[in-house]
Amino acid sequence: MTSTTTQQGPQESRIFPSPAAFAAQATVSGMDAYNALCAEAAADYEGFWGRLAKENLVWQKPFTKVLNEDNAPFYKWFEDGHLNVSYNCLDRNLQNGNADKTAIIFEADDGKSVHVTYKELHEKVCKFANGLKSRGIKKGDRVIIYMSMSVEGVAAMQACARIGATHSVVFGGFSAKSLQERIIDAGAVAVITADEQMRGGKQLPLKAIVDEALALGGCDTIKDVIVYKRTGGNINFVAGRDLWLHDLVDNQSAECEPEWVDAEHPLFILYTSGSTGTPKGVQHSSGGYLLWAALTMKWSFDIKPNDVYWCTADIGWVTGHSYIAYGPTAVGATQVVFEGIPTFPNAGRFWGTIAKHKVSIFYTAPTAIRSLIKASDLDASVHPKNYDLSSVRLLGTVGEPINPEAWMWYYTQVGREVCPIVDTFWQTETGGHMITPLPGATPMVPGSCTLPLPGIMAAIVDESGADVPNGQGGILVVKRPWPSMIRTIWNNPDRFKSSYFPEELGGKMYLAGDGAIRNKDTGYFTITGRIDDVLNVSGHRMGTMEIESALVANPLVAEAAVVGKPDETTGESICAFVVLKQARPTGDDAKKLALELRNWVAKEIGPIAKPKEIRFGDNLPKTRSGKIMRRLLRVLAKGETITQDVSTLENPAILEQLKEAS
Ligand code: WT7
Repeated sequence: MTSTTTQQGPQESRIFPSPAAFAAQATVSGMDAYNALCAEAAADYEGFWGRLAKENLVWQKPFTKVLNEDNAPFYKWFEDGHLNVSYNCLDRNLQNGNADKTAIIFEADDGKSVHVTYKELHEKVCKFANGLKSRGIKKGDRVIIYMSMSVEGVAAMQACARIGATHSVVFGGFSAKSLQERIIDAGAVAVITADEQMRGGKQLPLKAIVDEALALGGCDTIKDVIVYKRTGGNINFVAGRDLWLHDLVDNQSAECEPEWVDAEHPLFILYTSGSTGTPKGVQHSSGGYLLWAALTMKWSFDIKPNDVYWCTADIGWVTGHSYIAYGPTAVGATQVVFEGIPTFPNAGRFWGTIAKHKVSIFYTAPTAIRSLIKASDLDASVHPKNYDLSSVRLLGTVGEPINPEAWMWYYTQVGREVCPIVDTFWQTETGGHMITPLPGATPMVPGSCTLPLPGIMAAIVDESGADVPNGQGGILVVKRPWPSMIRTIWNNPDRFKSSYFPEELGGKMYLAGDGAIRNKDTGYFTITGRIDDVLNVSGHRMGTMEIESALVANPLVAEAAVVGKPDETTGESICAFVVLKQARPTGDDAKKLALELRNWVAKEIGPIAKPKEIRFGDNLPKTRSGKIMRRLLRVLAKGETITQDVSTLENPAILEQLKEAS
C-alpha cells in the first residue's frame, strides 16, 4: 500500500436533483426510500440480505443461514441454499410470461440486427449445455471462453452455469501468451472460441490465437476446442481436439435439467491485474453474485419491463458478466448486445444504434464519451443532436472517474437534461455496483459516484485503518462483507487475504485499492484514483509490473519502468522508461525500437497494454539502495519539472535525459 496524499475535496458545486418525472416512477423513489433501505441494513444486516435473496432469486432449496463469518475473510453467503444461475436467468422468464419477449437484440458490426426471445435463448443454452455434457464437461470443470460479443458468447456463459462448470472469459483482445497463462492457471478442460471476430469492418483472428496459445505448451488439461463459426474465414482444424459448435449442438435436446449447485459454487473466474505478479483469478459465487447483479439492475438502472437496455461493455470484462450475461437476463430485460466499435462506420454509431433500437437505458465508459465528444467536435454530423435519442431515460457510466465536462456533455447532449446519470463505482472483485447515485433518489454531482448502495458499508480510512473525517482523502474500504464480493483468488488464497484484507487494516476490511474523499457537506464519495501500481487506460485495468515484465522479456531490454500519464481521452496512458542492453538509441533508431517494443508488448499481453510512449535512457533514476523512483518518473512523464529533493538519488543527472522522448 502506498500512501495517499490528502486531497482537497472536489471543487464541483453543481447539484442536479433526480428529474421529478423519473423519481415519480422509480424503483427507489427518493432519498427517504434510500435511507429506509440503509436503515434496514444497519438494523439487521443478515435479515436485510436474507429478505432480498428470497425476493430476488429462485432457490431450489432455500437457505437457512445468511452469512457465515467463521473463516473470515473467506465469507460464505446463503451457503446451504441450492440454485442454478441459468435457471434464474432463463427458465424463470419462461414461467413468468417473458417467453416471447426479446432477450437480446444482437447488433452486428455491419449493422445487421437479430432479435432472440427468451424462449429461443433458453433453447440455445440448453442445447449448448447438452453439447458440453456430451463432451464429458461437468460440474466444477473450468471452461475458457475466448469469444467476441455475440449471442453465442452469452449462451456459452449461461450453458456453463447451467451444468455447473466454472467459466473464465478471456477478453478477445488478449494475446496467445495471456490466454495460455489463464488456461494453465485455471486448469481448464475446454476452450470455447470463434473462427474470427468482426471489429470495425475487419476480420480478426480468434481460433488462430487459441492454436498459438495451446502450442506454447503446458495446456495439457485442454481436451476440446469448440469453435463458433462467425465469419467462415479460413482456419486450421486439429483432428480429435477441435469441433464446430454447430456440429456439437445441432442434434442436442432443447431441454437440459439444470445442475443445482450450492450458493457458494464458483460461477466464474475472471482474471484481472494487480499491482504485482501475474493476473489474479477473481473467483465469484453463484447465489450472492447473482443476487447483486439482479438487484442492482433494479436499484441502479431502475429496469422496467418495457425498457430496452444497452451496456456497451465486452463480455471479457466484469461489466459484461454482471450487466450483460447475468443481471439483465435475471430480471427479464430486453438488451442490445453490440458486436462492433463506437467509431464504425462512423463515430455516430452509438447514437444511431440507440435511435434504431429505441434504447431507454444506456451504460458506457467515460473514455468512450470523451472520444465521441472529440469526434463530434471534428465532424458535426456525428453529434448526438442529429439522432433521435428521445427513447433514452437513464444514462450510466462505469470503469473510471468521469470528468465534470464529459458528465455535463453526456447530461445535456445525450440525456436532454431529463435523464439521470448513474456514475457507478465498482470493481471486478466487487461483482456489482458499490457506490452510485440511485436514479430516482440521489441528487447528482458531476464527477462524484455519490453514495454507497444500501447494505454496502463503504468508508474512508487512513493507513492504520482509522476513519478519516469528511473532506480528507484516504483509502477506500468496505467494512462489512456483501453477497457479491470476491470469494478468493483462484489457486491463491494467501494472495486473496494479503491483497484485499491486509493485516495493516486489521484483516477485516475489504481494501478496494482506490483512494477516495468524501465531501464535507454531502458526504458524497469521489474516487481519486488507484493507490497501487495499477493503471486505468480507457477503463481497462493494467498492472505496471505486468507491462514491465513483458518489456524485460525482450532480449534487447535490460530494464524497464512503467508509469501512468494523465490522458485527455483514455484517462491514463502508459509511459515506459526503458534501458537497452545496447547503447541508448536516438532519433530514427529510437523511433524504430519504440515501435518494435510496442508491438512486442502487444504480442506478450495484448494491444491494450501497448505503451503510448517509450523513452530510452542510459539508466533509470534509482536510490542508493537501487530502488527505481517511479514517483519521479511520473512527474517526468507528465512533462512537469521535478521540485522534489533528488539528493538521495544515485544518479540525479539521468533525470535530464529522461525528460523527453529520445
Ligand atoms: C477500477 C476497477 C467496474 C467495472 C469495470 C472496471 C476504477 C471503476 C469507477 C467509477 C471512478 C472507477 C477504479 C476501480 N473505477 N468505476 N465510476 N469512478 N473509478 O473494473 O477493471 O476491476 O477496475 O476501475 O479505479 O478500482 P476493474
